Amino acid sequence: MNFKQDNDASALENSQNHKNRDNRDISIKQNKDADKSGESAENQYGYILEASSLADALARKLGRRPCFTVVNFGCQMNARDSEKLRGVLRDSGFEETENEDDADVVIYNTCTVRENADEHVYGRLGHLNGIKEKHPERLIGLCGCMMQERRIVEKIKKSYPFVDLIFGTHNLGEFPRLLVRALSEKKRVVEIIESKKTVEENLPVERKYSFKSGVNIMYGCNNFCSYCIVPYVRGREISRTPEAILAEVMKLRDDGVREIMLLGQNVNSYGKGLEVPETFAGLLGRICRISGIDRVRFMTSHPKDLSQELIDAMAEYPAVCPHLHLPVQSGSTEILKRMNRHYTREDYLALVGRIREKIPDISLTTDIIVGFPGETEEDFKETLSLIREVGFDSAFTFIYSKRTGTPAAAMADQVPEEVVHERFDRLLAEVKKDAEARCARFKGRTMDVLVEEANKQPGLVTGRIPNNLVVHFPGSKELIGKIVPVRLDECRGFYYIGTAEETDGV
Ligand code: SAH
Ligand code: SF4
Ligand code: F3S
Repeated sequence: MNFKQDNDASALENSQNHKNRDNRDISIKQNKDADKSGESAENQYGYILEASSLADALARKLGRRPCFTVVNFGCQMNARDSEKLRGVLRDSGFEETENEDDADVVIYNTCTVRENADEHVYGRLGHLNGIKEKHPERLIGLCGCMMQERRIVEKIKKSYPFVDLIFGTHNLGEFPRLLVRALSEKKRVVEIIESKKTVEENLPVERKYSFKSGVNIMYGCNNFCSYCIVPYVRGREISRTPEAILAEVMKLRDDGVREIMLLGQNVNSYGKGLEVPETFAGLLGRICRISGIDRVRFMTSHPKDLSQELIDAMAEYPAVCPHLHLPVQSGSTEILKRMNRHYTREDYLALVGRIREKIPDISLTTDIIVGFPGETEEDFKETLSLIREVGFDSAFTFIYSKRTGTPAAAMADQVPEEVVHERFDRLLAEVKKDAEARCARFKGRTMDVLVEEANKQPGLVTGRIPNNLVVHFPGSKELIGKIVPVRLDECRGFYYIGTAEETDGV
């Protein structure tokens, strides 16, 4: 939908040059000009070499290595994309800095799932404007889901002329080429394509953690939940081949990774459209049989597609963590129908029953939207009672946000703001009541903790048990990346304080 205007303007040249108000060239890449997006990874490596010559020239000018920062605003998918952006910048000879005020290259990887995600980016852009005024030579780039919306790109071009590089989710794989253009052309570069032509295989990746990693198994979404912008900004579902995924997992394993998070908007529909059919359960089994991968997680699971085969695989393979994020969105069948979710309240509860029968100790977490158009007090009470019936370990709660272009945005009966806020507070209280007690159920047990970081409090480290709960315990930073048996002494709300049974790790 977003780039319909572009498609209609098919008589335009493939790559047009316009002049904007500050007389910098803007090249808008039409969808039919997606030929270059099919460029092979080797070509992108050529661009990385070119970018590193440009970075060397910059280093000579600055008298130090140029540095970059990539700021992530979105979900795990975006976080993984950011690791690819970091990998390209690092391999091009830029050094990473946490402080965006000092960075020679600042990239914002944006999210547009709710209005407040957009506002967050606009707020930070104001700050960047101040930096750019003092240091005009710095390169400011915007990418990610917001950039797949034409109205947003138009607004940025008009109101934030200091942004030097704009690209979307579908041409992330071309970031090396775009970086070279932005570094060398001294004019604003805007390249957005409407749909993905290739997937980003083999871009260098700079992982946030050495011992755990996300792995994309698919891109895009075909579900079109009526409130959701993701299918419009991430495009149609494409699954990577099992061979590409397994090769990546083995490479990560060789690199010291012990925990894998398989990523997709709806992992349960993995495999559709592959030449050789494969299911998500089949893929999960193949990944769990790779030795050296101790923990496998995945997200997100759409309840309508969660098969018995998957529940069986989760129960069968010890590496699969006993945690499932299973967004319910609402406890009312009527609202679920209007949301286009394709399951009823009863279907969801029955599914939870089947999962708990096979994996009794599993931690279930969820997403809930409050104030969807047409939600009555009765509908809302059904959400509250579903929370009580299921017993979630935690829930992400969201106030419904109108996204332009989605079917729900055009629905007549939008819920008044004060009603939504009042329900939101009641929802939070309900989630908290049950979840705290549920999280405490492991108290006194000894469980494996994968240590993730040194705690801010000296002498403590922080990690997670397989169920995903956070544990702090006395230990040194040498334990980071190790799996340590820890006795869970005390539960404080949603985390534990524990004591290591052994400190040499396993
Ligand atoms: N693919 C995932 C979710 C991606 S978005 C899934 O289907 O579970 C993450 C969460 O954001 C959704 O589960 C939903 O609860 C919330 N969300 C999406 N669009 C929203 C909107 N317009 N308003 C409020 N919350 C929204
Ligand atoms: Fe959005 Fe629904 Fe797709 Fe999740 S499954 S990304 S909520 S459309
Ligand atoms: Fe946001 Fe895009 Fe993820 S809209 S939630 S970053 S897929």
